[in-house]
Amino acid sequence: MTHQEAAPEPTGTAAAVAEPPLLDVRDLRVEFRTRDGVAKAVNGVSYHVARGQTLAVLGESGSGKSVTAQAVMGILDSPPGFLTGGEIVFQGRDLLTLRREERRRIRGAKMAMIFQDALSSLNPVLSVGAQLGEMFQVHEGVSRKEARARAVELMERVKIPAARERVGDYPHQFSGGMRQRIMIAMALALGPDLIIADEPTTALDVTVQAQVMDLLAELQRELTMGLILITHDLGVVADVADTIAVMYAGRIVETAPVHQLYKAPAHPYTRGLLDSIPRLDQKGRQLYAIKGMPPNLTAVPPGCPFHPRCPLVRDVCRTDPPPLYEVGPGRTSACHFWKETLDGAR
Ligand SMILES: Nc1ncnc2c1ncn2[C@@H]1O[C@H](COP(=O)(O)OP(=O)(O)OP(=O)(O)O)[C@@H](O)[C@H]1O
Ligand code: SF4
Ligand SMILES: [Mg+2]
Repeated sequence: MTHQEAAPEPTGTAAAVAEPPLLDVRDLRVEFRTRDGVAKAVNGVSYHVARGQTLAVLGESGSGKSVTAQAVMGILDSPPGFLTGGEIVFQGRDLLTLRREERRRIRGAKMAMIFQDALSSLNPVLSVGAQLGEMFQVHEGVSRKEARARAVELMERVKIPAARERVGDYPHQFSGGMRQRIMIAMALALGPDLIIADEPTTALDVTVQAQVMDLLAELQRELTMGLILITHDLGVVADVADTIAVMYAGRIVETAPVHQLYKAPAHPYTRGLLDSIPRLDQKGRQLYAIKGMPPNLTAVPPGCPFHPRCPLVRDVCRTDPPPLYEVGPGRTSACHFWKETLDGAR
């Protein structure tokens, strides 16, 4: 197709290219074997994040965001989930080649995960101080007294007011936002290099969401960690992410530095997501809704999996799956008509 042959615009930043990745996920594949068939939940996903960088992973419900993260963390529910291919290179080592014990050690100390639902992730019958302190007792062999002091320090670090007085309180005695701060404290306890936060603020109301997100971003910068932020809300990540990877039906359909993606998306799905969020600079604009539903992953449409919902669909889209085109430095799009999409957005 001739329209693909034009030289890509110089887009990515030098810093993003120079930093070697902390985590490099390559062509990852996970399938769920269920009675209804095989669901290819992660179908050739590649992404990377460097130290001190935030990658946001965006996509509708069921697109494979959490399953990808679970595979990276080594906590995939297996069976029914099976990792069928790919590499997960963390600090230069492919985690999939490591022994179970070594993998567990890395998971405890070097990478940590924050989930949406703090209440079900915390133990209801242990005080938060005991739960935080236990991390230091188990992993660093410190005394109970020392562990408690470190728990207070951590609670202060995540800005829980009156930490010293509240260290003996139980999870249900904290508000949703404070509980999520405790989850962040748990994740930080052993000084990880990478944090994966899976919808960390979805259950909170809007103002608290912003506070927790700001805290996470501040800690990530201060501690120069890599952060993967999973969300279905494009509005939440605009200020905190460096790069965005957009997932659809188990694949990455677009990757771009955040500001470029906002300004000019190179995939019609991203465009649809952007057009469906309210924007302060476009008050009164009619909000767009992407028509239809994401596909069932046991029966993904042939060709481009987005074709039944795509406003730009043409015949070739129904038969030929688009490869992930390089559309600029640090930018990819899985759309045959990425150039038109990009030009149309500018
Ligand atoms: N335990 C499971 N058993 C069977 N299939 C599963 C299981 N967990 C996930 N899947 C399949 O993997 C797909 C991707 O799930 P995943 O949880 O990664 O979605 P997600 O993008 O995180 O969505 P959400 O925004 O709702 O959290 C699901 O649509 C489903 O087909
Ligand atoms: S390949 Fe075709 S159907 Fe798929 S997103 Fe691009 S234009 Fe739409
Ligand atoms: Mg999820």
